[in-house]
Parts: sequence; C-alpha cells; structure tokens
Amino acid sequence: MKNPQRQVIIAGNWKMNKTTKEANALTEKILSGLSSDAKNQPEIVLIPPFTSLSTVSSKLDGKPVKLGAQNMDWHDDGAYTGEISPLMLLDLKVKYVLIGHSERRQFFGETNATTNLRLKAALAHGLSPILCVGELLNEREADLTDAVVGRQVGAALTDIDTSLFSKITIAYEPVWAIGTGNTCEAKEANRVCAVIRKTVAALYARFSDNGNKFDAATMPILYGGSVKANNVAEQLQQEHIDGSLVGGASLNADELLAIIKAGTERVKRNLTAVAK
Ligand code: PGA
Repeated sequence: MKNPQRQVIIAGNWKMNKTTKEANALTEKILSGLSSDAKNQPEIVLIPPFTSLSTVSSKLDGKPVKLGAQNMDWHDDGAYTGEISPLMLLDLKVKYVLIGHSERRQFFGETNATTNLRLKAALAHGLSPILCVGELLNEREADLTDAVVGRQVGAALTDIDTSLFSKITIAYEPVWAIGTGNTCEAKEANRVCAVIRKTVAALYARFSDNGNKFDAATMPILYGGSVKANNVAEQLQQEHIDGSLVGGASLNADELLAIIKAGTERVKRNLTAVAK
C-alpha cells in the first residue's frame, strides 16, 4: 500500500461541555497521561468551548498539544452580537478551528455558503481549518452520500486560493454517526474519505494555475462520529483515514489517551512505509 506521509491528527471536540474548572482538570489529566515519545506522537488538538479557551491555552503553553476552537465568525470585528472573530482566536493562541460542524449546520442555520466564508476567513488569518462534512441518514439511505459530501466540499472550497489547499484538513462526519454510538463501518468511512480526496484533487486540477504544487494525497482527512477507544484502531488502519475528530469520548481523559495511542501507532506505520 502506498502510504504517503500525511499528518496524523487526533482532535477532541468538547462541544458545549465543561466549566473552566472542569476544563482545567481534564486538560491536566490528558497532559499528564501523554507518552514522552514525542517523535511518534500525532498532532493532538483540544477543542474546548470558547469560555475555556483562555485557561486551556495557558495550560497548553509549551506542551505538545494544540488548541482549537469550535467555530468562528468570518468578520474581524463589528456589531455581531454573540460571535467570535478570528482575531480573538489568534489572541488566545488558537491554531485550529472547526468549520461547518454538522451541529452548526443542523441547529444554527449554517449553510454551505457561510461555511465557505468562514473557511476563507480562517485561511486568511493563518488558522488551520478543519472542515466538517457528512451526510444525514436519509441521504445515506437514498444513496446520496457521495453527492452530498462532494457538494459540501465543493461549496466550501469555492474561490479558495489553491495555494492554501495544503492548509486545510477535512473531517468526514456522517451526521447519523455523531453522538449515537452508531459508528460508520471503517471500510465505508475509508471509501467516503477517498471520495473526498478525489473531489479535492479534481477541484485543485480545475482551479489551479499550476503555479503551486498541491497534492491531494497529502491532505489529512479525519473520521468523526462515535469514535471510541474500542473502534479507533480499525479506523486508523484504513488508507484514507488520517486521524479522528472525537466528541463524547474526548470528555474522558483515559478514552482520549487510548485514542491518541492508536494515533501514535498510525504515525509509526506511516514512518515505516515512507522509510521503505
Ligand atoms: P461524537 O462526536 O464522537 O460524540 O460522535 C463527534 C463530533 O461531533 O465531532
């Protein structure tokens, strides 16, 4: 199997959970359980709610763990009550930001168009966006998965400078698998991740002036949706799944540490494959 050297990412999305005190305690527990094997560690990202970004940020200072935010507005500042701007995230040393999470799309009216605006703003400010895509159950049942996911990726990447494609991570999160315990079968998740990679390659080929050399084979693509310590290993065996976006299980330090360990195994396998 050709196994290109892609970054392996394990990201924990805490959603609307944890007070600052609880967030501190969870961060400390995760940090103290990390292995000292820095060379083989995946990129680890903690994504607390906005109210805990500041405190988690100070805890992560100098540690091999990055900070992420769950969403952001596309304006720098202004009369947008309740919103958080990219500048505010940068101020707190946030590196990653989730864009277009299905709960934002489902419950807060986010569309493919606003996802595109957020993605552009994140890239313009040097943040690393994790673009979330995935189909609803009725879309899967109607055999529309590939079409829906392809459309979401296409819409999000519209008018994005192709030289910035290399800064993007995509997470495939089937909506029916999120928070339900019904994880997507690993081979099927891998198949959809391959469809996403192909879509990105086609968009790049269409819009690039060939002045930059992005290869979709280098884009990290994560799987999310009921990832747990007991199902992650099989997911991370798949060719096109480069990591995990973990919700519920990331609220438990031991679970997340076990998932990170599976990420470490994937890093090691990648390094071995590249060395061959
Ligand atoms: P879950 O959430 O792991 O609780 O299914 C995943 C996500 O929403 O990113």
